[in-house]
Amino acid sequence: MISKMNKLFLAYITFFSLVLLLMACSTAQEEVTRWYSLEQVATGKPLYAKHCAGCHGSNGEGAPNSDTPLPNGSYPPQPLNGSGHSWHHSLSNLEETIKKGGRHPGATMPSFGHVLNHEERITVIAVFQSFWSDKTYRGWLWRGGLD
Ligand code: HEC
Repeated sequence: MISKMNKLFLAYITFFSLVLLLMACSTAQEEVTRWYSLEQVATGKPLYAKHCAGCHGSNGEGAPNSDTPLPNGSYPPQPLNGSGHSWHHSLSNLEETIKKGGRHPGATMPSFGHVLNHEERITVIAVFQSFWSDKTYRGWLWRGGLD
């Protein structure tokens, strides 16, 4: 037979276990705050569709076999949806690529320095980052995406 004390003790233990479980769940699902606003994504969407989607895909899926170098050593259009390397580059690095074009000699990625101004380049980044999962976005932040 369980004594009154033991019952009380069990009730406490159950209560605190539940609290701990709830705390663990809420940390795991915590939303990450993105650096961009929904307005920036909305502004960038037509720019992305016009200037980027033709090569990188309307959802940033990239070209098939984007991992395989071309005969000249450059790469096909990379995925921008988080499945490729784009999340390895900081915001300023991504902007630099868009401004100056492909990094590898012979790359077909054009430079957009005279086509899109700084704010517009930032909004197309917001568009393709909106394709990223929270997990990818957290990984990017952890690697110093905003440094
Ligand atoms: C004519 C095709 C083409 C267009 C248009 C184009 N890109 Fe690219 N993009 C490429 C190619 C090819 C590469 C790989 C370049 C290399 O080998 O250095 C690339 C690479 C990139 C990278 C680096 C990705 C990584 O994983 O390192 C980013 C970021 C990028 N493009 C963004 C954009 C954005 C944003 C636009 C629109 C403003 C755009 N690109 C328009 C072809 C294109």
